[in-house]
Amino acid sequence: MIKLSPSILAADPLQMGSALQTIKQAKADELHFDVMDAHFVPNLSFGPSLLAAMKKAEPDLVYDVHLMLSDPCKYAEVFAEAGATIITVHQEAENFIPCLEKLRQLGVKVGASLKPGTPAHTLRPVLDRLDRVLLMTVEPGFGGQKLMPEVLGKARELRLMGFQGDIEADGGIGLQNMQLLADSGINVLVMGTAFFKAEDPAAFCAAVHAL
Ligand code: DX5
Ligand code: ZN
Repeated sequence: MIKLSPSILAADPLQMGSALQTIKQAKADELHFDVMDAHFVPNLSFGPSLLAAMKKAEPDLVYDVHLMLSDPCKYAEVFAEAGATIITVHQEAENFIPCLEKLRQLGVKVGASLKPGTPAHTLRPVLDRLDRVLLMTVEPGFGGQKLMPEVLGKARELRLMGFQGDIEADGGIGLQNMQLLADSGINVLVMGTAFFKAEDPAAFCAAVHAL
């Protein structure tokens, strides 16, 4: 089944509690928590205190934490302690490989993310250490951008390299293009704008699960 991970980056910043409930009541599979440091990407988003508050309120949700940080190793423990289920770090970041080791030691699920311009083969040496690969289908930093279809071929490359974990896509995904992603071998969809604009989030989520 295709999993849905709504991104709170697209939620009303004044209504984070209700965004959390919307995700839960829609029966989404995960909550996508985009962390940005205004250095690795030209935007600044959320910190560990928001994650900890969400985890306290809804401990049973899967917190899919996407660290868009220049040196994610520095904050891996902070986000693990705040309640992350999965922590995904960028292949392009500093200390990428030591960070994968640290995440494994912290007991969270380990993800690696590629910017659109980074080839899939760069992950070949570490695929056996990963539970998940996150393919950015937009340049990271902002929601509401247009999906870059040229990225989708990376999913097939990863399968051909023998990767059997989750392949997640993030950016510019909606009802109009989600079938294309599912057909490409992607099994987790991050949706921010499309999800929080949906008239009926539960029906939206059911449509993703029906892919
Ligand atoms: C980019 C962000 C976005 C966001 C989802 O760094 O990670 O991809 O989560 O974006 P939209 O609103 O396009 O679904
Ligand atoms: Zn993300």
